[in-house]
Amino acid sequence: MAGNAGFREAKGDLRLENVTKSFADFTAVDDLSLVVPRGSFFALLGPSGCGKTTTLRMVAGLEQPTSGRILIGDTDLTGSRPYERPVNTVFQSYALFPHLTVRDNVAFGPKRRGLKNAVQLADEALDLVQLPHLAARKPAQLSGGQQQRVAVARALVNRPEVLLLDEPLGALDLKLRRQMQVELKRIQTEVGLTFIHVTHDQEEAMTMADTVAVMNHGRIEQMGAPEAMYDLPTTAFVANFVGQSNLGAGRIIDTDGDRLVAEVQGSRVKIPKARSSVHSGEVMFGVRPEKVRVRREQPEGIGDDVKGVVRDVSFIGVATQYLVEVPSGAIWSAYEQNLDVEPIDLRPGDEVWLTWQSGHAFGVPPDDDAAASPMVIDTAAED
Ligand SMILES: Nc1ncnc2c1ncn2[C@@H]1O[C@H](COP(=O)(O)OP(=O)(O)OP(=O)(O)O)[C@@H](O)[C@H]1O
Ligand SMILES: [Mg+2]
Repeated sequence: MAGNAGFREAKGDLRLENVTKSFADFTAVDDLSLVVPRGSFFALLGPSGCGKTTTLRMVAGLEQPTSGRILIGDTDLTGSRPYERPVNTVFQSYALFPHLTVRDNVAFGPKRRGLKNAVQLADEALDLVQLPHLAARKPAQLSGGQQQRVAVARALVNRPEVLLLDEPLGALDLKLRRQMQVELKRIQTEVGLTFIHVTHDQEEAMTMADTVAVMNHGRIEQMGAPEAMYDLPTTAFVANFVGQSNLGAGRIIDTDGDRLVAEVQGSRVKIPKARSSVHSGEVMFGVRPEKVRVRREQPEGIGDDVKGVVRDVSFIGVATQYLVEVPSGAIWSAYEQNLDVEPIDLRPGDEVWLTWQSGHAFGVPPDDDAAASPMVIDTAAED
């Protein structure tokens, strides 16, 4: 393997340049270009079948791109074998060796590479995942979360430049999942290597990653810091895949200073120019549910508003969620924090005004799929 040392020592940002992967006449990954800065935590987020695993497999060398290049720093890895790459993968199925102890599972890679200090390296990796006390156990004697940490240790022990995680938390219950998210983030910060974490859980991607790329149909729809992407989605798909959005199809009819004026299903609303990726013609108007207030009377001086009828009120502890039917027939969602001494006390059938500051609105290109389902009541139900 000496001849491959150049690859293993490749260091720097991971770059995918115009990477396409076709299976027969189906394009799983479509002209994908992205840069993952060295040492960052990058999440690839998208619905089932959008090409996440295929992308990871190409980075790992388990699959070759149909076209395009994959580089780490200035080293072109395209065409090289998996073991030649400074990349390790943690799959959803942990695939630990059942007959080996935890320590031997972790030491397996370094031993195979002939490293004399394999066991010491394994123990260091087990320290990192906080499992040294279980080193003598067999995988079957561990919980799911512990097995997952062994799988991470087994990948980390090889000191890869890039660690790929393909839905490694999918099998865990919600509480353990949250714990492991914090744990993985801590490990990543501690060792400072590049993590690419694949998930279809938007909350997981947002809480863990420095940068989130939202994939759909083999392409990246939007990429950026979680807060920025949540604040300003640039497509209807992202607006509803990353959190929820109230969306309405409309048309831009005028401008007013730094705002666009749009007619959206009978209502006039404003969108800051800087928050709209469309500046004329058809537009999809959007506003996040927590930016929308619910009032019995038409409010004055708050911003834009639309009249509607309450269809559902659900108390969810930190807030109350109102589902309100607006004149277009779409159901909008609004969250009111439970701050008031006197709650609003609304019931289904009540007429209300929904109001929001126009500075919170955003505009994205029209999208037939999103228009067909104007609002997602529960994003979890879509998984
Ligand atoms: N070897 C293959 N031959 C043909 N089609 C494939 C092959 N591997 C993947 N695909 C197709 O490519 C698309 C992307 O698959 P991929 O496994 O990358 O999706 P994913 O985003 O990881 O989805 P999930 O969240 O369900 O794991 C899917 O439609 C899949 O059926
Ligand atoms: Mg997958």
